[in-house]
Amino acid sequence: MTDRFPVVVLLSGRGSNMRVIADQALRGALPVEIRAVISDKPDAGGLAIARELGIVTETLAPKSFPNREAFDAALAERVDSYAPKLVILAGYMRILSSAFVRRFLGRLINIHPSLLPNYPGLHTHRRVLEGGDTRHGATVHFVTEELDAGPAILQGRVAVLAGDTEATLSARVQRAEHIIYPRSVAWLAENRVVMRNGQTWLDGKPTSDAPIIDVE
Ligand code: GRF
Repeated sequence: MTDRFPVVVLLSGRGSNMRVIADQALRGALPVEIRAVISDKPDAGGLAIARELGIVTETLAPKSFPNREAFDAALAERVDSYAPKLVILAGYMRILSSAFVRRFLGRLINIHPSLLPNYPGLHTHRRVLEGGDTRHGATVHFVTEELDAGPAILQGRVAVLAGDTEATLSARVQRAEHIIYPRSVAWLAENRVVMRNGQTWLDGKPTSDAPIIDVE
């Protein structure tokens, strides 16, 4: 037990965002303690990374439960057993039930690979390329019951370059993610950011537009 801000991370995939948050936390650059990393996928790369870093991991298999509500109720119990002040979705690929979202409202955040409100949903890089956009990025936001529509905390913006493919664009967006996610978590841990009346408040003021960082 430490007096650092306790968090739990949920993920389904490779876990690069979890890794940057964990690295910064372990070297004392981020005032948080990752109490557990929980996955719905036993083979998620992020679980292996967490284990290597000495972080407690758990897997909860959706197929062991009759429906989403039952799975999410069990997941919520597991999350709560670590008494986190923040639940960080880092590539968690299941849609959360309303009951789960309501239970953690204001302490549940996600990172989405687009400049929301543009491109909610899947395949954002492909859609950005098809749309001919010149700017793209990622958004950290509070999770609310409407998918990818909760109030934004911080955005990272990148250029879309001539010749970009989904792979090159996604790599550039991930560089932005690795900057904005730890920074957002720091703001929450330091109590500089809260969600109030459905809005993000930063340093005591409601933000109508989230701050944007331009990333090379
Ligand atoms: C990120 O692109 C994030 O925007 C999305 O899922 C991906 C997770 O990547 N929600 P990683 O597993 O953290 O590398």
